[in-house]
Amino acid sequence: MGLKEKGLAVMTFGCQMNEYDSERIGGILSQEGFQLTENLEEAQVILLNTCSVREKAEQKFYSQLGRLAEVKRKSPSLIIGVGGCIAQREGERIFDRASHVDLVFGTQNLSRLPVLLRKVIETRAGVADVTREEKSEAPYLIQRESHVKAWVAIMQGCNNFCSYCVVPTTRGPQRSRSNRQIMEEIEGLIRENYKEVTLLGQNVNAYGQDLPEEINFAVLLSLVNGVKSIERIRFVTSHPKDLSDELIDAMATLPKVCEHLHLPVQCGSDKILNLMNRGYKAEEYQEKIGRLKALIPHIGLSTDLIVGFPGEEEEDFAATRELVKTIQYDSIYLFKYSPRPDTTAAVFSNPVPEKIKQERFQEILTLQKEIALRKNREIEGTVVDVLVEGRSKRDAEKLTGRTRSNKIVNFYGHQDMVGRLVKLEIVKGKLYSLEGRLLN
Ligand code: 5AD
Ligand code: SF4
Repeated sequence: MGLKEKGLAVMTFGCQMNEYDSERIGGILSQEGFQLTENLEEAQVILLNTCSVREKAEQKFYSQLGRLAEVKRKSPSLIIGVGGCIAQREGERIFDRASHVDLVFGTQNLSRLPVLLRKVIETRAGVADVTREEKSEAPYLIQRESHVKAWVAIMQGCNNFCSYCVVPTTRGPQRSRSNRQIMEEIEGLIRENYKEVTLLGQNVNAYGQDLPEEINFAVLLSLVNGVKSIERIRFVTSHPKDLSDELIDAMATLPKVCEHLHLPVQCGSDKILNLMNRGYKAEEYQEKIGRLKALIPHIGLSTDLIVGFPGEEEEDFAATRELVKTIQYDSIYLFKYSPRPDTTAAVFSNPVPEKIKQERFQEILTLQKEIALRKNREIEGTVVDVLVEGRSKRDAEKLTGRTRSNKIVNFYGHQDMVGRLVKLEIVKGKLYSLEGRLLN
């Protein structure tokens, strides 16, 4: 049996690397004649790209998968595939939990998807493949969602083994792409008129450490900075221990590199940082932030924080609270610790009771809301450059874009401004966004 109509729906859970992988899945399968659709009823194939980083993310996926059982019962020819980090970890066990799944594919074998799908169609039996493919210099096939800003993976995997984190297991060891391959992907973006590129990886500032040639992330940034017609460069995620002075200097001097850094600190206590296997002390982190603020005035700073890690006592939590007060982040991603299978922290003693985790979560959230609102109000009246991304999702009358410091600004403007840089006066600072007024 073949697939005459080829509607493909891809549902993405989790991080930006997953969003990018979903764009790759779209690119790879569009070569096979599949057409992306958001309407599940039009889809002959539904692929779920899953996240395993916290238990909540897993639950979200399994409940979505449960709902698809009913869809499949109504149209038995529908093919349901599961990829991403849960698939990588669970492999064939997914079939035991959900018999309506036809295909399980891993995080490191996307280019085999056409072959695997054909196998499902021919055999109508469950197919699972979570092996890792050979490193290849072939360009990625990508169907991007935005026409203004593009993600470009510069590496896959992670070698850090933070004690709470599943990523090194689900995504494998760090593999940097060659700078030739990366630059080719970025050159391709120029032809399609992209204005912003975000270099992606689990730990971008360790870029190149696994390559035979002499290259590091600061050098890569300067190469990308030389690409004409790209106006803005961003990157995520950075690890504090690999944030070198050379990189800070590159950020300060390369004109296209935006004044924003996402630098996950996780917590402010040296005891907990050590248990987390993070490889730095809170003071070293603060020194790096001090250097960044000194060299890059108006830098936007964001971070990830985990509260309730095993062994976190009141004084450890107080250290985190103090750090958040001192640094004054523009935004934070705050998480309650969630034990993950096959991580070293999963067997740590002294778990923090859920009630205390929740209280600590709430306390940091409230503190950060005050900080964010105050910082956003402080820039009322200033003039900013905004790259216009499209219509605002909340208010279709407005356009939306970001400042170089990564703040979202909504404003009234004309559709033909999408993809352009505009000057706006900030008229209102809110908690998670700004309102702007177009200046002529
Ligand atoms: N529990 C809670 N948060 C986690 N993160 C990663 N693993 C866990 C976990 N087991 C958070 C970290 C990381 C972000 C992507 O997710 O803060 O930086
Ligand atoms: Fe996970 Fe740590 Fe690697 Fe980030 S650096 S992906 S938190 S192991």
